[in-house]
Amino acid sequence: MNLIMPHNEFATSSKISGLHLSRIFELLPCYISIQDSDLRIIFVNQNFKRDIGDAIGKLCYMVYKNSKDVCPSCPVKKSFQDKRVHIREETVQLANGNKRQMLIQTSPIIGDRGEVEAVIDMATNISQIKIDQKELVGLGQSIALLSHGIKNILEGLQGGAYIIDEGLTDEDLELVKKGWNIVNKNIFDVTDFVKNILYSAKGRRLKLETVSPGQLAKDSVALFKEKGAGLHIRLREQVNLYLPEVSVDIAGVRRVLNNLIWNAMEACINDKQKKNHFVSVKTDFYDDDHFMFEITDNGIGMDQATQQKIFDEFFSTKGSGGTGLGLAVVDKIVSMHGGKIEVTSTQGKGTKLTVIFKIK
Ligand SMILES: Nc1ncnc2c1ncn2[C@@H]1O[C@H](COP(=O)(O)OP(=O)(O)OP(=O)(O)O)[C@@H](O)[C@H]1O
Ligand SMILES: [Mg+2]
Repeated sequence: MNLIMPHNEFATSSKISGLHLSRIFELLPCYISIQDSDLRIIFVNQNFKRDIGDAIGKLCYMVYKNSKDVCPSCPVKKSFQDKRVHIREETVQLANGNKRQMLIQTSPIIGDRGEVEAVIDMATNISQIKIDQKELVGLGQSIALLSHGIKNILEGLQGGAYIIDEGLTDEDLELVKKGWNIVNKNIFDVTDFVKNILYSAKGRRLKLETVSPGQLAKDSVALFKEKGAGLHIRLREQVNLYLPEVSVDIAGVRRVLNNLIWNAMEACINDKQKKNHFVSVKTDFYDDDHFMFEITDNGIGMDQATQQKIFDEFFSTKGSGGTGLGLAVVDKIVSMHGGKIEVTSTQGKGTKLTVIFKIK
């Protein structure tokens, strides 16, 4: 076949700075094939041979897709039909079985009489670009969600400050107290929120220190006791005194316990069926080599579909009341310690989350 490239000047000057045209083909950082009108491959460059295979004589869709059928909207076919360049994204299977996202550009090779003699197919690996693109979209969504969370807390603070102002003007101490409680709640929320953001950010290292796990549980329960009383939720704790001291990242484990206890309390607040609610925190041996924190509540519980997603970043069923960072942070801290989490939950009855760490 007497092939004439679409850009004739380039094709007729077969040498560029000592490089033969065919050598340039080989050097291009993409996968090049030339196909006939049956989509049979008649030329491949070195990159193609190395990563996709020596496909000469084989059908394009067999090689690229391991398929018996021509791809829908095949760009090579289109270039044969309309003599134009076509661009399409495709998933291509490499010789080692891995799949890559490719940008396929096809260009017709026009013969002497103006007919399309063959089509050049140039595939560029854009897998990394696709991953970066996905991360950027995720980042944008995260920023939108975080801004929304901050906006809610700011509104809460403004509301509380307004009530305090009114109380001061009217010299109404009860109103001042009411406003102060709202401000206090929002200060707690913003602190919690910021700490979760800091933990979910990459690059945090564990700072291991020796501590009694029972003491950590007691401290966390104490933090929520008053809040629990105000919400009519009984907070209980149970510590096995024979537990040894352990080596953990204290701030990290406190974060785990606080997020789990607060989730359990919110599950109780959202449960309108039962009259008496409790959250219990048990610290005990899990087996000879592990200890556990077991946080149980008799709140709303979860269905199976919710349980599947609870550790996903930004998954929340609480609307503007939750950011969905809490359990993602718990999961991260526990994994960094080489620990694991078990979840048991029944919708309408309650939930048990067990966090298991190595003793040594
Ligand atoms: N004890 C629990 N009982 C019932 N559902 C729970 C419990 N703990 C977690 N969940 C479910 O898991 C979801 C994710 O929890 P997570 O703590 O990650 O986010 P959140 O509590 O919604 O928001 P925040 O970032 O403020 O913690 C919750 O929205 C809720 O649906
Ligand atoms: Mg939470």
